[in-house]
Amino acid sequence: MSATQEKTTRSSSPTDDATAKAVFSNERTVQVPKITLPVSLRPNTRLKMDGLEFLSLLPESAIPVAFLDPQYRGVLDKLAYGNEGKSRGMRRSAMAQMSDALIGDFVRGIDRVLVPSGHLFLWVDKFHLCQGVRPWLEGTSLEIVDLMTWDKGTFGMGYRTRRRAEHCIVLQRRPVRAKGVWKVHNITDVVLEKVSKREHPHAKPVELQGRLISAVSSEGDFVIDPAAGSFSVLDAALQHNRNFLGCDLNG
Ligand SMILES: C[S@@+](CC[C@H](N)C(=O)[O-])C[C@H]1O[C@@H](n2cnc3c(N)ncnc32)[C@H](O)[C@@H]1O
Repeated sequence: MSATQEKTTRSSSPTDDATAKAVFSNERTVQVPKITLPVSLRPNTRLKMDGLEFLSLLPESAIPVAFLDPQYRGVLDKLAYGNEGKSRGMRRSAMAQMSDALIGDFVRGIDRVLVPSGHLFLWVDKFHLCQGVRPWLEGTSLEIVDLMTWDKGTFGMGYRTRRRAEHCIVLQRRPVRAKGVWKVHNITDVVLEKVSKREHPHAKPVELQGRLISAVSSEGDFVIDPAAGSFSVLDAALQHNRNFLGCDLNG
């Protein structure tokens, strides 16, 4: 998508246009510094390394957008479907699990490298959404500014209702503002996108992540994901002419 296309917002009448201009902005005024990377951090590749080590190698206040999709230990503990060690449950339980303390360390590491007014898109399931993520934000300058729901269009597990959705909490490093920062205004807060789980049981939607990337960054900017799984964010970043930096313990 070209820079000109990205500047386009959808509106249906001249009145809508006037209102949109007053309330929204489709320009970005965020300054992103040029960064020098250590040779071990090769952009646009699937790095195999620990996410905290990866974050520690990035310069401070340099990255406009990050994604974090933690491997929650809580999911296995709470769901306890009895399939841990079997089929898809085996693939999940074989992955390195993250404690709440570790997730807090990842969030603090991301906060350090984001530019002022930069964004973190944090994927959560409904248990973590209800319990709240505030403890993970302690000691950071991140604020919750929005929430999106991804409708997977599938019929998942559940003792009561069956799971069909996951959620993405939108966090912004202070100073919090939308004008001059968020430039795509036709993304709804519930999005249906089907995703194959063949490569990774927790793969996230490439198209949706790509639209979020284009909303809060410019062409050539870096997008990071320190626990990248199937590297869906890499695909999304490349589709929108951004650079990607990210890793997974499993590469
Ligand atoms: C929920 S998955 C991410 C899925 C990803 N968003 C996608 O679209 O495919 C979480 C990933 O975190 C990885 N992981 C767990 N601990 C890690 C660590 N300390 N450093 C890097 N990756 C880690 C796991 O291997 C797993 O692939």
